Amino acid sequence: MKSLKFAVLPGDGIGPEVMSVTLDILKIIGERFNFTLDYQTADIGGIAIDNHGTAFPVTTQAICEESDAILFGSVGGPKWESLPPKDQPERAALLPIRKAFSLYANIRPGLLYSELAEASPLKSERIPKGIDIVCIRELTGGIYFGQPKSTYEEAGETVALDTMIYKTSEIERIAKVAIDTAKNRQKKVCSVDKANVLETSVLWRKTVTDYFKKHAPEIELSHMYVDNAAMQLARDPNQFDVLFTENMFGDILSDEMGVICGSLGMLASASLGASKNSIGLPFGLYEPSGGTAPDIAGKGIANPCAQILSAAMMLRYSFGENEAAETIEKAVEKAVTSGSRTGDIAFGGKALSTKEMSEAILHSI
Ligand code: IPM
Ligand code: MN
Repeated sequence: MKSLKFAVLPGDGIGPEVMSVTLDILKIIGERFNFTLDYQTADIGGIAIDNHGTAFPVTTQAICEESDAILFGSVGGPKWESLPPKDQPERAALLPIRKAFSLYANIRPGLLYSELAEASPLKSERIPKGIDIVCIRELTGGIYFGQPKSTYEEAGETVALDTMIYKTSEIERIAKVAIDTAKNRQKKVCSVDKANVLETSVLWRKTVTDYFKKHAPEIELSHMYVDNAAMQLARDPNQFDVLFTENMFGDILSDEMGVICGSLGMLASASLGASKNSIGLPFGLYEPSGGTAPDIAGKGIANPCAQILSAAMMLRYSFGENEAAETIEKAVEKAVTSGSRTGDIAFGGKALSTKEMSEAILHSI
């Protein structure tokens, strides 16, 4: 029987709670689809600072390196907010792990079932069929990582500097991910930039245009400035199919996409790497789009769907278990649309605990 080798990094806040029920579901799915789980758990984020003095310990990195994928919870919380920004879990764990594994392709599906339309701040008549878009965000370049990056004194005042930088090769490899994603969807990509102001965006637009013309003329490509894209997303999200953009614009737009899709508790994500894993598929990190939700951590009431759906993405992209992935996705949809819901999406109806929610999902499998 096939054995799936992955690292489990539950992290902080609600991470461990939603991770635990997700592993239960994976185990049962494995029985159905003939695979076993061979995972190793390690500390990351705040808990790693507490236990090892660093947010991304080398022992954790070593476990990830021995694995074919990483199932990630979430990191950060009030306990570590007084640390200098660069030592806080988000910057000291998430950014280094992305860089360490060259996880340049961030795939964030923005999915809202029509039955959950009232969870969205958008008027339901704007989203009669719910929402179904996907954001492809470049994740290891741009202003997040560009050098130089520093704060210094000059002429009697403090100056801070970030560098926004892109190379053609970085743009082309993420353009390929946008194309591959669009091929399985409506074959429509909207590339978002700020080419009326930024040099990096001028290069982005030209490179994307040339790459699509050469490699995927069948895909309908359009371009939009990021300010307009933010507006259009709030006005009519379903005009987009694949929303494709650079690192910082993608950070901002994917949060906006998250909020119009109702609850961050429903949104999964995948970050795929440049390297292949031991079975020849993309190595990737899979994490919910929401954060650690410190306000409800430890209460057993967090929505586990985003973590469970992230595990489904892991099965699909890093293990090629498409049918198992689809089975999980359908089970989540069935459970939620038939009324099994945690507090974030219950609207005054019965709010299930994390455990009850996962049982409802298992029941739908
Ligand atoms: C995200 C997060 C991170 C980012 C932060 C926590 C560093 O907001 O994954 O979107 O900005 O990429
Ligand atoms: Mn973000």
